[in-house]
Amino acid sequence: MRIVLLGAPGSGKGTQATLLRERLKLVHISTGDLLRQARTEGSALGLQAQAAMDRGELVSDDIVLGMLEHRLSQPDIGAGITFDGYPRNIAQADALHALLAKLKLPLQCAVLLDVPEATLLSRLADRAKKEGRVDDTPETIKNRLKVYHDQTEPVVGYYQNLGLVRKVRGEGTLEEIYARVAAAVIG
Ligand code: AP5
Repeated sequence: MRIVLLGAPGSGKGTQATLLRERLKLVHISTGDLLRQARTEGSALGLQAQAAMDRGELVSDDIVLGMLEHRLSQPDIGAGITFDGYPRNIAQADALHALLAKLKLPLQCAVLLDVPEATLLSRLADRAKKEGRVDDTPETIKNRLKVYHDQTEPVVGYYQNLGLVRKVRGEGTLEEIYARVAAAVIG
C-alpha cells in the first residue's frame, strides 16, 4: 500500500505517518526529515537546502527529487510507503507519478488532514517551545502557510482528478485521528 499524506504545516502528517509505520508497517518517507538529516550531517546537499528551509520556502525540486529517488532505491519499500511532505507542488506530483509508474508501485490514496488554521498555529507554537525547530518561528510559520496555500494546495486538486483524495478531520486526539486515517486508507 502506498499513500500520500497531504496537509498544512502542523496538520499532523509526521505524527500520523509514525503511527502508520508502527501499526501498518508502512515505510515513512518524510522529505523534511531527510533534509534535516542532510543538514545535521553537514552534507553539501544539506547546506544547499538550509537557506530555503530557514525561510520556510521550498527547497529546489531537483534536490528533493534526488533524495527521494535514492530513498526509493532501498530494498525496504516493497512493504508499503507513506509519503509525508512530498509532493509539495504540481511538478513534484508529476515526478512522483512517473517514478512510481517506473517502479510499478502506484499510489492507492492521498489522505488530506484537514485542520483549521488556529489549531495549526497553536500546535506549531507549542512545538517551538518544546523542541525549538528552527523553522517554527512566527515569521517562518507564516511563510510556510503561504507557501502551502500557493503551491501545495493545487496538489489536492491533482489527486482529486485521479480520484485518490480522502479528506479526514485532523482535530482531536492522536488516536481519534488515526482511526479516521486508517479507515480512509484501509476502507
Ligand atoms: P516538513 O518537515 O515537511 O514540515 P511541514 O510540512 O511544515 O510539516 P510539519 O512537520 O511542521 O507538520 P506535520 O504536518 O508533519 O505535523 P506534525 O505531525 O509534525 O518541511 C520542512 C521544510 O523542509 C519545508 O518548509 C521546506 O523548506 C523543506 N521541504 C520538505 N519537503 C519538501 C519538498 N517536498 N519540497 C521542497 N522542500 C521541502 O505535528 C506538528 C505538531 O503538532 C507536533 O508538535 C505534534 O506533536 C503536534 N500534534 C500532532 N497531532 C496533534 C494532535 N492531534 N493534537 C495535538 N497536537 C498534535
